[in-house]
Amino acid sequence: AFVVTDNCILCKYTDCVAVCPADAFYEGPNFLAINPNDCIDCDLCPVECPAGAIFQEDEVPEHQKEFIELNAELSQHWPRITEVKEPPKDAKQWDGIEGKIKYLKI
Ligand code: SF4
Ligand code: F3S
Repeated sequence: AFVVTDNCILCKYTDCVAVCPADAFYEGPNFLAINPNDCIDCDLCPVECPAGAIFQEDEVPEHQKEFIELNAELSQHWPRITEVKEPPKDAKQWDGIEGKIKYLKI
């Protein structure tokens, strides 16, 4: 499955949901998570993410491995999102900041 990682936090552009044929994205307050049971590994979403936050499970950077479990867990509790929405007004300011996991709201 594909995995949303740190740089999505507080950016949450949502472009990813527009291309997902499996409706695999779930929305939290400041992050989206992919449900690994929904994802069909089509590889369409990584290139759509302006923040470069989506990786194939085997290619998640070493220091972001915890996001594999987080996507699986959080996606079970959050509502599905299928339509693009406005990103937060300060999304660009957060883009590229490392270690945003401390701001993750669940
Ligand atoms: Fe959806 Fe395809 Fe991305 Fe999986 S890889 S989350 S199925 S767009
Ligand atoms: Fe997040 Fe990128 Fe989607 S920032 S909401 S994974 S387009």
